[in-house]
Amino acid sequence: MADAELSSEADLMGNIVNLAKRRGIVFQSADIYGGFRSAYDYGPIGALMLRNVKDAWWYSMVQQRTDVVGLDASILSPPAVWAASGHLQNFTDPLVDCKHCNDRFREDQLDDPSTCPNCGAKGSFTEARAFNLMFKTQAGPVEGAGHDVYLRPETAQGMFINFKNVLETSRKRPPFGIAQIGKSFRNEITPGNWVFRTREFEQMELEFFVPPAEAEEWYRYWCQERFDWYVDLGIPTDHLRLRAHGDDELSHYSSDTSDIEFLFPWGWGELEGVANRGDYDLKQHSEHSGERLEYFDQQANEHYTPHVIEPAAGAARSLMAFLLSAYAEETVNDDLRTVLHLHPKLAPFKVAVLPLSKKDTLTPVAHKVFTTVAERYMADYDETQAIGRRYRRQDEIGTPYCVTVDFDTLDDDAVTVRDRDTMHQDRVSIDRLMAYLGERL
Ligand code: GAP
Repeated sequence: MADAELSSEADLMGNIVNLAKRRGIVFQSADIYGGFRSAYDYGPIGALMLRNVKDAWWYSMVQQRTDVVGLDASILSPPAVWAASGHLQNFTDPLVDCKHCNDRFREDQLDDPSTCPNCGAKGSFTEARAFNLMFKTQAGPVEGAGHDVYLRPETAQGMFINFKNVLETSRKRPPFGIAQIGKSFRNEITPGNWVFRTREFEQMELEFFVPPAEAEEWYRYWCQERFDWYVDLGIPTDHLRLRAHGDDELSHYSSDTSDIEFLFPWGWGELEGVANRGDYDLKQHSEHSGERLEYFDQQANEHYTPHVIEPAAGAARSLMAFLLSAYAEETVNDDLRTVLHLHPKLAPFKVAVLPLSKKDTLTPVAHKVFTTVAERYMADYDETQAIGRRYRRQDEIGTPYCVTVDFDTLDDDAVTVRDRDTMHQDRVSIDRLMAYLGERL
């Protein structure tokens, strides 16, 4: 294998954004209308990658566990939910306006709070005011006469308000968790850094309900468990860290929070927060709704309010970290190849079937191979351009195995399988192909 050379940190982000555009991973939303700032669309390859990130999370958080169940709650919810959760009062960022150029900023994100980063004016900022990040809209057909509703700014409240429903229907008892993946919306003052901070994004959240005495232990457990998830899927440990929040950073509901951070090209940034939310949410919703959100421990013959440990991750930020970690430019025979060394679970296609030529004689057998492979794996089929260019294209989107059907296949019923990382090629009989792939994927 050729020496891998990571492109310099400064270029890396630009290279990823270019690759994403060139290969249909991420597009600027509404770009034919000049682009809609802070919103992005995932193209054919990106949609597969994002789905794989979410599937990998669901696999480890729900499928592999006996103590977690899933939920898919609504995005729209009435103000009562957000009054109880504290978001109506507290989910704000400090907003300042530059009186000179009228641009707006988050005061806590300014490098120099006395200078406008847009126009350079000094001392031009207004007093900071609390700006609520929730998107508000109206439910009902008559404009102006409907009820106020909010787009959820986190998926978490769906789990708290369904605590009783899930407890009664799932036969789970603490310690147990409710997991959800879904869209959340925040009217961020300064979206940016590509898909890192957008106004519409997907969260992957677990609310894990535990007896109060076990909260500290489960908090440590989930910090470790979630850190390992990123490592297992290919992020180098020197690009990951667990950072405990200082007292001044803690959310209104949390007694302990640690962020899992990734070393992005611009510095450390949050991928996920793991919080000990105590009994805050269940108590708040009990008080506001009048429903008792408690667990009855039969053995101890007592009711108690479980405490909650919450690992809360973002799908797009995880995808960004996986892309940045997987990207490499390598010199092969004096040629530069760009390759994504993605974990096979995250690769958009696991296999690409490539007939050597478009000649009719190869098409039926190549289609047959594709159909067999596609029964088990997401696979691509590509018969355009020279084979070398097709390999490069698959390398760029991280396809672990390319299966080439050539003229010898018609005689020996075998195909050539090329490994993305080593570029080593094996001749494999079509009968054994699925077993061969199964041993490796
Ligand atoms: N329920 C707790 C909660 O929502 P959070 O730290 O605000 O906690 C969790 O959000 C994760 O959601 C973050 O670690 C991040 O990955 C993702 N996230 C939050 N705001 C985001 C935004 N504006 N754009 C993209 N991802 C975001």
